Amino acid sequence: MGSSPGTSSYDCSFKVLLIGDSAVGKSSLLVSFVSAAPADDDISPTIGVDFKIKFLTVGDKKLKLTIWDTAGQERFRTITSSYYRGAHGIILVYDVTKRQSFTNLADVWAKEIELHSTNKECIKMLVGNKVDKDEERLVTREEGLAFAQECGCLFLESSAKTRENVEKCFEELALKILEVPSLSEEGSSVVKRNSLKQKQENNAKLGGGCCQ
Ligand code: GTP
Ligand code: MG
Repeated sequence: MGSSPGTSSYDCSFKVLLIGDSAVGKSSLLVSFVSAAPADDDISPTIGVDFKIKFLTVGDKKLKLTIWDTAGQERFRTITSSYYRGAHGIILVYDVTKRQSFTNLADVWAKEIELHSTNKECIKMLVGNKVDKDEERLVTREEGLAFAQECGCLFLESSAKTRENVEKCFEELALKILEVPSLSEEGSSVVKRNSLKQKQENNAKLGGGCCQ
C-alpha cells in the first residue's frame, strides 16, 4: 500500500468522515496524513466543516479519498444529515489523555451516526490519538479496544505528532471499505458516472453530438 499524490485517474472514490470532541486532533491527523509530515502545534480549531482529498493505492486499486473534517466545538457544530450522507467510512477520534472525549463517543457521537448515517454498512474506525503523551494517558488501550469491539469498529491508537499509525488508520479503513461489495461498487460507480459526464462534456466542446 502507498500514496500517489497528483493522481488524476482512479478506480474508486470514497467519502470518509472524521468526528469526535474538540481538540482531540482530528484536523492534525488529517493534515499529517495529507501532507505526509507530523502536524504542527499551531493548528486552529476547525470552524464549520472542511475537507481534503488524498489519493491512495491499495492493492491494485487507485482510490480517491475525500476526507471531511468537522468542528468538535458545540457552537460551530453544523452537522446535518448531508455531512453523513453517503459516507463509506467514519473515523471516531478521542484523546487518550482526556477521558471525557472517550465517554462522549458513546454518549454523543455514536448516537449522531445512528441518527444521520444513511449507509448502514459503512465502516467505522475508533482512533485513540495523542499516544506520544503516554505519561498523561487516562484511557487504556484495553478500554479503547473493548469499546471498539462493542460497537463493531476497527481500532488503532495514533499520534499526529509522531505520525504513529496515521497512514495505517486511513489505509486500513480504505482496505475494509474495498472489502464490502456494496461500498466498493458504489465508490466505483461514482467514478464511472463522472468519467461519462467528462466524456460528454469533452464531446460537446469538440462539437460532437454522439458518445464515443
Ligand atoms: P476541533 O477542530 O476544535 O474539533 O479540534 P480537532 O479535533 O481538529 O483538534 P486539532 O487537530 O485542532 O488539535 C488540537 C490540539 O491538539 C492542537 O494543539 C494540536 O497540536 C494537538 N494535537 C493534535 N494531535 C496531537 C497528537 O497526536 N499529540 C499531541 N501531543 N498533540 C496533538
Ligand atoms: Mg479541527
